[in-house]
Amino acid sequence: MEKRELIYEGKAKRVYATDQPGQVIQEFKDEATAFDGKKRGVIAGKGKVNAQMSDIIFRYLEKHGIHTHHVKLISENELLTWWLEMIPVEIIVRNYAAGSLAKRLGYPERTEMKSPIVEYYYKNDELGDPMLAREHIRELGLASDEQLDEMTSIALRVNEILRPFFEARGIILADFKLEFGLREGRILLGDEFSPDVCRLWDAETGEIMDKDRFRRDLGKVEETYAEVLRRVSEEQAGVAASVYVSPKKGVLDPAGQATLGALKSLGYEEVREVRIGKYITLRLEGVEADKAEERVREMCERLLANPIIEDYRVEID
Ligand SMILES: Nc1ncnc2c1ncn2[C@@H]1O[C@H](COP(=O)(O)OP(=O)(O)OP(=O)(O)O)[C@@H](O)[C@H]1O
Ligand SMILES: [Mg+2]
Repeated sequence: MEKRELIYEGKAKRVYATDQPGQVIQEFKDEATAFDGKKRGVIAGKGKVNAQMSDIIFRYLEKHGIHTHHVKLISENELLTWWLEMIPVEIIVRNYAAGSLAKRLGYPERTEMKSPIVEYYYKNDELGDPMLAREHIRELGLASDEQLDEMTSIALRVNEILRPFFEARGIILADFKLEFGLREGRILLGDEFSPDVCRLWDAETGEIMDKDRFRRDLGKVEETYAEVLRRVSEEQAGVAASVYVSPKKGVLDPAGQATLGALKSLGYEEVREVRIGKYITLRLEGVEADKAEERVREMCERLLANPIIEDYRVEID
C-alpha cells in the first residue's frame, strides 16, 4: 500500500490519501494543543501511544458490534482507516463531572452522574467548538434527527463496552469524545480514542491519566501516556467458561413438552423432541484453563446443574 498526498492536517493528526480506494492513512503527531489552540507543546511519544491505543480500542469495539472506520495499524504511529465524510458534531459522554460540566452544573469535580450524560458540540474552531442542543443541530443542518439518534445510541453503547474494559485495567473512564462520519450512507465511528480525547483516572490513586496532565501542567505527561498504553495493551487475565445444562433424555421436562405442543399447533409437525435447558457463562481469575475446567465441573455437580436429572457440558475459552 502506498502513502500518497496529504489531504488534511489537523492539530493531532495528518490524513493522507493512499492507492487503496476509499482508504486513508492517519498519522498521529506528538504535537499537543489545548484551550482552543492557545496552549501548545510536544508530548514525546504521544503519536505512537494514540495510534496504538486507537488500534486496540477500535478493534475491541468492532469485536463488540460497533462499526468503525478502522482497518489496521500500519506503523507505530499510523492507522489505515476508511475515509469518512465527517459529521461536524462531537459527541461527548460523561460518567463523572469534570472540566466544563462541573462548572455548568456547579458540581464538585469527580461527582458521579446518576446516568451517563450525552452532550453535542459543534466541531468549528472559528466558533470555539460551542455546545449545541438538538435544535441547533437541526437548524444548522449538521445531521438529521435519525443520524443524531443513531450517533447517540452508539455513543452510549461504546460507554457500556469501554467502562468495564478500563475498569478491568484499574482505570475509571470519566468522559470521552467521539466523532462520526458517513461511508456509503452508513454512520461509522471515526477519529481516535486516546488520552487526548477522554478523561481517565487511576481507580486506586485517583491520579489523572489523560491530556489534563498537559492542560494543567501536572508533569509526567509522557510517562502517563505510556502507562495508559501499557495497561490497555494488557490481555485481561482470567478464563471464560460456558456451561450448557439440559434435562437428561427420558426425564420429564414440562417446559420442553409444552413448547413441543405449542410448536406442533403452529404447524411444525416435524418437531419430535424439545428439551429446554440453560446456558451459564462464568469468568474465573487466577486459575489456569485446565484447573478452571475441573473447578467448573465441580460447580456443576454441586450447584449449577442437578446431575441426577440434568446433563451438562463445560467449555473453556
Ligand atoms: N476516517 C476519517 N476520514 C476522514 N477524516 C477523518 C477521519 N477520522 C477523523 N477525521 C478527521 O481528521 C481530522 C484530523 O484530525 P485531528 O484530530 O488532527 O483534527 P483536529 O485538530 O481535532 O480538528 P480540526 O483540525 O479538523 O479542527 C479531523 O478533522 C477529524 O475529524
Ligand atoms: Mg482531533
